[in-house]
Amino acid sequence: MKSKTLNGQDSAGTETVGAPSSVLTGWTQKLMTSQAAFFKKTKPIVERCESDLNTRLRLKYAPYYRAAESADGINLVVDGRPMLLMSSNEYLGLSRHPKVIEAAKRAVDQWGASACGSRLANGSRAYHTELEEDLAAFLGKEACHVTAAGYLACMCSISSLARRGDAVIVDPNIHSSLWDGVLLSGAKIERFAHNDMDSLAKLLAELDPKQAKVIVVDGVYSMEGHVAPLPQLVELAEQYQAVVVVDEAHSIGVLGRDGRGVCDQSGVTGRVELICGSFSKALASTGGFVAGSRAMIEYLRSNSRQIIFSAAISPAAAASARAALGVIQVEPEHHERLWANYRHLKAILEKLGLDYWSSPTPALPIVVGDKEKCYWMWKTLWEQGFFTVMSLPPGVPPGKDLLRCAVTAMHTAEQLDRFGEALKLAMKRAGVEPKH
Ligand SMILES: Cc1ncc(COP(=O)(O)O)c(C=O)c1O
Repeated sequence: MKSKTLNGQDSAGTETVGAPSSVLTGWTQKLMTSQAAFFKKTKPIVERCESDLNTRLRLKYAPYYRAAESADGINLVVDGRPMLLMSSNEYLGLSRHPKVIEAAKRAVDQWGASACGSRLANGSRAYHTELEEDLAAFLGKEACHVTAAGYLACMCSISSLARRGDAVIVDPNIHSSLWDGVLLSGAKIERFAHNDMDSLAKLLAELDPKQAKVIVVDGVYSMEGHVAPLPQLVELAEQYQAVVVVDEAHSIGVLGRDGRGVCDQSGVTGRVELICGSFSKALASTGGFVAGSRAMIEYLRSNSRQIIFSAAISPAAAASARAALGVIQVEPEHHERLWANYRHLKAILEKLGLDYWSSPTPALPIVVGDKEKCYWMWKTLWEQGFFTVMSLPPGVPPGKDLLRCAVTAMHTAEQLDRFGEALKLAMKRAGVEPKH
């Protein structure tokens, strides 16, 4: 029998108490509705969601989730206005490259929209293994596994690698995907100061020598643009027998030979156990990868819930990532334009006296350090037709409120100069003083 609740619904939430509503006369129906409203209790979690301050502020000031009506690389139309994207992760501008588009179209024609299954079960296809072989060879690793999102790839690089009783040693500024993997692993979390190898050495020396250890870092930190000091880090890792995991999401296509990443640039590929990353940056697609020794990749395939219980990357996404990987190895001009633009924008920021956190990579933040000022800078830039993204704590460390900006191969010098003029105005309106 169904139980009745105070607000007149049964436990399945479908029936009203007493006579069916069709036979209720007007006033009785009104009385019952107001009684139901009186007794109705809001569920605590629904109430929490409805009264969430972050959401209210976001909806009031509306800086996020701004949908473009059209987009061609960095040229967007938002609310009918042309906007120049100054926070793109598409570092090399390959999402409209003819070879990338053609590969995606062909893949859909041949394989359809999706394999609709996990790799372990019924979703493995030849285009997955081809992409994995190409990536493993490109990165200088024995094997590779590709996933439907970079987030999954980074998470799975740690979540099933470390376990309770182990120590996971992290730079606190690692990406959320790595953090989630660390938290899921159940291992003891140990933090060293961001990019500080003295702090890492001190921490390692204090840990139990018998405890299994994993060190987790970003190759390039997405907010700061900083590069991890891998040569010193792998030395320490070897001294203390720690496995090293590096997220190369923002360094593939950007650093290293033909864009092979920070491990390659630092000459430590063979000394880093796992390299993970995303296709959603320079490789102009969606999806992610983790690469390492055959044994470690096969271990993840048998043990990672993110791999086992999640559907495979789609044919179009896999094909476009593979095509982009081919392009970056034969067309150096995109890479050259990216770095010329990096130098140009960095010079503009330096001239304006803006703090770009000494970023040596195309992820060039503008650190304002104050939420209000950051908002006014963002708003002025928005009104001037420049799309940047505000990143506030806890997304960034306290006092590092910033506008996330990034330069790409698609920008022109003239566009960057115009951005510089808009920044000058934004600094004035927001009361941001030059740091000279
Ligand atoms: C450093 C880093 N790692 C991982 C990811 C996750 O990649 P994806 O967007 O493909 O899920 C991102 C994306 O923002 C990132 O910046």
